[in-house]
Parts: sequence; C-alpha cells; structure tokens
Amino acid sequence: MKKIILTTFVLCTFLSYINMSAQNSTKEEAAQEKAIQSLIKKMTLQEKVGLLHANSKFYVTGIKRLGIPELALSDGPHGVRAEINRDNWAYAGWTNDSSTCFPTGTALAASWNPQLSAERGMVLGEEARYRKKDILLGPGINIIRSPLCGRNFEYMSEDPFLISSLTVPYIKALQSKDVAASVKHYIANNQEENRVTVDVSMSDRALHEIYLPGFKAAVQEGGSLTVMAAYNKFRGDWCSESNYLDREILRTELGFKGVLMTDWNAAHSTIKAALAGLDLEMGTDIKDYNEWYFANPLINAVKEGKVPVSIIDEKVANILRVMMKIKMLDEKNRAKGSMNTPAHQQAAYKSAAEAIVLLRNKNAVLPVDFTSIKSIAVIGDNATRKHCSGGLSSEIKSLYEITPLDALTKKYGNSLIINFAQGYEKQSKFAEGSNIGQYDTKKIDWKLIDEAVSAAKKSDIAVIFCGLNHDFDTESFDRIDMKLPYGQETLIREVAKANPRTIVVIIAGSPLEMAGFSERVPAILWSWFGGMEAGNAVADVLSGKVNPSGKLPFTIPVSLEQSPAHALGNFPGRDLKVNYEEDILVGYRWFDTKNIVPQYPFGFGLSFTSFEISGLQTDKKIYNTGDVIHISYTIKNSGKLYGAEVAQIYASDPVCSVLRPSQELKGFEKVFLQPGESKSVKTDIKVSDLAFWNESQKKWTVEPGDFILHLGNSSRNIIESAIIKIQ
Ligand code: BGC
Repeated sequence: MKKIILTTFVLCTFLSYINMSAQNSTKEEAAQEKAIQSLIKKMTLQEKVGLLHANSKFYVTGIKRLGIPELALSDGPHGVRAEINRDNWAYAGWTNDSSTCFPTGTALAASWNPQLSAERGMVLGEEARYRKKDILLGPGINIIRSPLCGRNFEYMSEDPFLISSLTVPYIKALQSKDVAASVKHYIANNQEENRVTVDVSMSDRALHEIYLPGFKAAVQEGGSLTVMAAYNKFRGDWCSESNYLDREILRTELGFKGVLMTDWNAAHSTIKAALAGLDLEMGTDIKDYNEWYFANPLINAVKEGKVPVSIIDEKVANILRVMMKIKMLDEKNRAKGSMNTPAHQQAAYKSAAEAIVLLRNKNAVLPVDFTSIKSIAVIGDNATRKHCSGGLSSEIKSLYEITPLDALTKKYGNSLIINFAQGYEKQSKFAEGSNIGQYDTKKIDWKLIDEAVSAAKKSDIAVIFCGLNHDFDTESFDRIDMKLPYGQETLIREVAKANPRTIVVIIAGSPLEMAGFSERVPAILWSWFGGMEAGNAVADVLSGKVNPSGKLPFTIPVSLEQSPAHALGNFPGRDLKVNYEEDILVGYRWFDTKNIVPQYPFGFGLSFTSFEISGLQTDKKIYNTGDVIHISYTIKNSGKLYGAEVAQIYASDPVCSVLRPSQELKGFEKVFLQPGESKSVKTDIKVSDLAFWNESQKKWTVEPGDFILHLGNSSRNIIESAIIKIQ
C-alpha cells in the first residue's frame, strides 16, 4: 500500500512538473514573441532586409544599435570547417581552426547507434561555439537513391527511418550547445550531376514516405532551427522558391518556425522566393552584396507593393527567433564551447570503430592474433591516404588524422615486420564541377601489383586497404560507374592468389561493385571514411580489440543495373529533368519487393561473436489505429566475445489497396552483450507509423487488416515474424 501511495505521489509530482515546465515554456515563448515584435518595431526596412542576406561568404549583418550581433555560419556535418575568407572561397589561413573530424554520414548511419549521433552533435556544438559560430550547416540527410551520387558519403542511408533515428539526437545535442543546426538539402538533392539545374518530379507518396520523413523528424522531433533549401528544382520550381515545398509543406504541414535559407548561390528570384517563405539568401554569386535578390531588390519590391511588409517581418521574426533560441542576444548565458579535447577525439574514435562493418569472415580469418604472426603486408593507397580534407563543403582541417598504416605501425611496428606496398596509384585528379578525373582511371599497374604480390608472399597475412577517395565520393559530381577504380580488383585477385590470408578493407562512402573479388578473399571489412581516428579504429577491429558491430545503411547491389533508379533508366535524368519512377521502392524496398538478390543487403553486418534473437511477442494481437504496439524479444550473445547486435524490425502490409513495399524498417535496437548474456528487448511502434500516404485523401492511412512484423538482423535475414490485426 505504502509503495502504491509513494508511486502515486512521485507520478503526480512528475506530471505536475511536466505541466509546469510546459506552462513555463509557453510563457517563455510568449515573452520571446513579444520581444521579437518589439525589436521589429524599432527596425527600419533597410535594417530588416540586412538580416535576410549574407554580407560575405558565411556571415549575415547584425544591427548594432539594437544589440543584434552578426550571424556566423559554418560547414559542416562531420566537423567545424576551417575559416574561409569573407569574400572568396580560399581558406583564411588561420592557425587555430583545426578541429575534430568525425567519420562521414554513411559511417554514422552504419553504427546504427543514436547515442553516438548525440555525442557527435554535442562535440560539434562545443567546437562550433568555441569557434564563435551560430549555425552549423548539417546534418546532410538526403536519401541515398543511387549508388553513384557523389554526396552519398555525406548523407546517411537509403532508409528514412534510420535517417530520422540518427538525425533527431544529433540536432538536439548540437542545439543544446546554443548552436543552430541546418538540416539539408531540402529536398531531393539526390544527385550531383546537374544539381543546380535538374528538375525533380516524384509522387506525393514518394515525397511523404521516403524523401520527407527525415526532414519532418528533424523539424518536429529534433527542433531543427534552420533548414537549407536544395539547389535543384522540384516540379518546375527551385526548392528555394517553391510555394508547395516551403509554405504548404514546411511551414504549414510540418509547422516549421525557424529559418529557411538557400544553399550557396541557390537563390533565383526576389518576389517569388519572398512570398514562398524563403528567409535567408546565402552565397549568391554577385559581387555587390547589396544587389543580391534579398537586398536592394527586396527593398524595392516592398516599396513597389509587390512584397508586403508583413512578409518581411515574418522573415525577420524567424531570424530573431533562432538568434534568441541559441542565446545570441544573451551572450553571457551562452555556452562557451571547447575545442579538440581528448573527449572529442574519443567520440570520433568510438564513432569510427562502431561504424565498421564485417561483411565476410570465412574460416574466422579475423580477428588477427597479432602475437602469433611475424609479418603483415599492408597494401594499397588507402593505407596511407588521409581523407578528412576532401569532399568539398564537408572537408575538415583535421587536428590530426591517423591512417591505417600509421596505426598498425604504432601498435605493432616493434613486434612485427610490416611490408608496405603501394598496390595501386591514385590515377584521378579532382577538379571541382567536373568528373573528368574519373575517366581513364582503370589502368592496371602491373609493376605495383607485382610489388604487392611479393609483399603478400613474404608475409603471414595481407591486408589491402582499397576503395575510393574524395575524387569519387565528393560534392559536385557523381561517379560514372560503381566499379573499383585504379585496377584494384585485379590487385585484390592477384594478392589473394599469393596469400590465402588476404583481408580486404574497403574505405568508401557509397556502394561498390564487389562481385569480382568478394568470393576470392576470406575476409572483407567496410571501414568508410573514418575521420581523424580512422586508422586506430580499423586496426582495433582487425585485432579484435573492437568487435565489429556496424550494419550496412544501404543495399550493395551486385551491379548498378540492379539498383532501382538505374534499372528504370532514371538517373541522372534527361534534358535536365528526372522522374523518380521507382517511386517508394528505393533501396531494399525495391530489392525485397522485386525479389532481387543483392551483393549485401541493407542492415547486414557480421560479428566475431554470435547472437541468438528469439521470442518475438507483441503485447496484443488486435490493435486500434491510435494504439502503440509493444514488441518484445530476446537477444543472447551465444559466442565467446563481448559484442553488439542490431535487431531490426520490419513491417509488411500484405493486403492493401495500394502497392506497399514488401517490408519497411520500423524499429531497431543496438544491444551490447557479454558472452553468454541475454537481454530482453522492447521496441514500441505506433500503429500510425504503419500508414501509407493516401494521395487521393492527402493524409496518412492505415487500412484495417493483418500486418506482419518481422524481426531479424538484416532486411534479408528475418528470424521470426508475428501477425497482428489492425481494426
Ligand atoms: C553545399 C552545402 C554547403 C554550402 C556552403 C554548398 O555547395 O551544397 O551543403 O553547406 O555549399 O559551403
């Protein structure tokens, strides 16, 4: 009885606390809105418009006399970019702007760990504050629609649920440090080819089910204070001036109250953009900042009555609201930040280590017992190449970057003979805006291969660090095919012939064709662009100090033709138009629905230990549309090593009036377990999350009937299923 009274008391206190803090925050918000309106009343039109466009590459003028400071923006999603000159794109040459460099977006997604995403957001926020930045441009969350998109490495996944699950904690943590996020690129910047001109069309259903959910979660759950409009057009209108995207969806449907900014040099009009809801013009390629679309031309448009002052005031209010939320007008109470701390570097290491995906491990070649071998061949350009400074806007002047060879030498150089061989030459050269560097990069350099083969022959094991670099995985253009460049496939095959204990480590941010070598080697690890700690992370996975727990955040097709946009001939489009004909069948939704067997499925990744997943149960068998489905199951580490498994829950709607993908990810849990340990895991899924976007009724619909919940550890390894009924 006592217990019940105490519990009731605690619950009531908690509820009244929640109630009070909700009241406080509404009160605070009301006070904030009042302060915003009173500031706006004091501004001249000139001053207002000054807040709506940049005064240099990354700054926006403040209003000194009203105590409104200059607004400072910076890239990017995996670290705070080095300082750029105010009036040109060259680096300013500061000596104190090196920063912590995290693994890129696909690596974050491969960790399937929202906690790591929050840690990243926290570090980025602290470093951005230390560098006196107000808005950090990221995360980049466009859907990986084609394996060829140059920016795949910077984005996260082909799946909107996985993207949303990682985006929300990132944004919340970043903004808790008084720095605004800018989730980008809204919307459908899913290719770099013609990115500034291409006109994308897709169904409303694909928009709502695939391309929008990440942004919706960023705004509604993450509270993203700013959104960056994409370069491309959407249904004939530039994203920065689309009434449908910017007013109807972003403002009205999603309830966004923050700042919508352009991408750099992505403004195209004054009146149309102003009315559609754009707030801030950045990066326009006109030398005189006063002549930008949202500068003098906007003042003139107001004077001519073409844009009402109320529209200007709405934009200024959006800017001021963001400034207040990140305490720009309350500097003494604002987070101060810190830079390059050991904790930041540890977060970068953890993120790199947890991202690594073990794709193959025949005869348990991995982990390598470094005490029992005498020599190792370390082969490949990627064994020594640093990647943090590449990729364009997301490039980082990293405080340091440990390559795989650095790490292996430091850890084992005294006890082992390390036979390094270049293996292949980087034959490409990056030139912004042109993928010319990618042609003619298939030369097979037999001299380098012969050297690698002899290194492999005289070593106990051979590790080939291969893959791509930021000549390929980069902003500004797409890859021309999905193949490994520089004759690497031949290199792998020849080294594998010379040494049966050949391990392939792929460093890349997007899918690659692997059929030509995957069966020839006993072990394959995918280690991404792993940031400043990349080498340490991969060395620790090779040795087993870290048990790999990454899972693929995208499907790896056998060949490009398997992949939906390419199978249907809709990439990169024709005559500057691209129609997303595959509709909602993106990534595994296509492969699973069409029964196409990929090279490696979405969600796949092995471990050095083994897991048993079992006992799938739902709390009920019949649910109403407003219910939450409480799912439980058990994961057991049935092997001999500590490790983590990612249990994934997919849902199917087998009978529906519209085509549904064969299954869709609706939940996942990453669980760390000691050998022999088991844990009961709970996952909640709202029935409303099983809905499809009903185009004729313009709303989410769950049709009553049977649904199947699948529990597995990849989209192609479903272990148990349960049928539920929705009424
Ligand atoms: C990119 C953005 C980036 C901006 C500023 C653009 O080219 O698309 O993602 O934030 O440049 O560097």
